[in-house]
Amino acid sequence: MKKILLLGSGELGKEFTISAKRLGCEVIACDKYPYAPAMQVADRSVVFDMLDAKKLTNLVDEEKPDFIVPEIEAIRTEELLNIEKKGITVVPSARAVNLTMNRDAIRDRAIELGIKTAQYKYAHNLDELDKAIKTVGLPCIVKPVMSSSGKGQTLIKTQEQVPLAWENATKNMRGDRVKVIVEEFINFISEITLLTIRQSNSSTIFCPPIGHQQEQGDYIESWQPENINQNLLSKAKDIAEKITKDLGGNGLFGVEFFITTEDIIFSELSPRPHDTGMVTMYTQNLSEFDLHARAILSYPINNILMLREGYSTVIKANGFEDKNFDYKFSGIEKALELDDVDIRLFGKPKAWNNRRLGVILSKNREIGQKAKSLIFINKKNNY
Ligand SMILES: Nc1ncnc2c1ncn2[C@@H]1O[C@H](COP(=O)(O)OP(=O)(O)OP(=O)(O)O)[C@@H](O)[C@H]1O
Ligand SMILES: [Mg+2]
Repeated sequence: MKKILLLGSGELGKEFTISAKRLGCEVIACDKYPYAPAMQVADRSVVFDMLDAKKLTNLVDEEKPDFIVPEIEAIRTEELLNIEKKGITVVPSARAVNLTMNRDAIRDRAIELGIKTAQYKYAHNLDELDKAIKTVGLPCIVKPVMSSSGKGQTLIKTQEQVPLAWENATKNMRGDRVKVIVEEFINFISEITLLTIRQSNSSTIFCPPIGHQQEQGDYIESWQPENINQNLLSKAKDIAEKITKDLGGNGLFGVEFFITTEDIIFSELSPRPHDTGMVTMYTQNLSEFDLHARAILSYPINNILMLREGYSTVIKANGFEDKNFDYKFSGIEKALELDDVDIRLFGKPKAWNNRRLGVILSKNREIGQKAKSLIFINKKNNY
């Protein structure tokens, strides 16, 4: 039985754990708070701060897992390079996890590989930011080099917004490096995630492209397949293959692209299942989580079949102010009465404003949105 140490126990980790358990693995789920989604389905769980290098190393020495599977970016990734040297497989590779943790490292690598991206500049203070924006031009997007789900991002249209963008980025960044990236705003027609699977004994394969919509940089809805021009799709596949090959290891990657009228532009990538890819739980014979598990374990993936078209949209706590409140859902029965609707509720113990608590899976946008309109999140009184 293979032992997996899962670092990060959110909704993606939960589904991955279910897939790994189905293949007979032992999973130890870690996160900084108890009862996190993946902990509810894992064999065991450990609560600790994964940015604490010593605690991470001690846990690895104690557990001696076959695989370390990072689910989030906020991990002491430098430590993973040392752990890999001890002969433990970091998924997909310590290099991949390390380079993608920060936007600058992976962006610079993409450029070295000759991959087209939005024009960009870095800044370490307000003065540099001002200059960077003058070079990149307006409109542009300012992002902390370390953050996810759109946190700390500002779309800038006028020079007056620069101080606010700096404040937003530095207040909402993760980690301790005060550095932002200024990116040219790409007026894309659509954006896609190309789920890319690197395997040990076979060639790199892809899922049909997933289209998605983000609001303030955070994932709201996705669908599969997204119909894009075949030439652009094969270009995207070439880029995805090139960059994942450079990162190395086995597993599933979520490679994000912007699609413009005449070209495809690489945006970023996750060396793990992607939130927009939750739709594959509805559409494919093997979900992105099943594919990740198989690739890690070096099991064959005979084929990826799309069984039906699908749509997914997130259920978030909205319109609440305070933090960490108990909550309950209502309207689930009504939503499930609709044609072919399925739901995943993550089981997060507490809610706060904008926190993602579930996802609706359906055959199209219309039905998915109808289901969403029937589901409510209510604060629960504990007395
Ligand atoms: N240069 C850009 N031009 C236009 N839109 C952009 C640009 N950069 C980011 N966006 C928009 O913001 C979204 C989030 O950006 P990005 O993927 O870089 O951040 P993120 O915080 O890592 O998000 P996530 O963790 O959800 O993937 C993109 O999917 C896109 O909709
Ligand atoms: Mg993204």
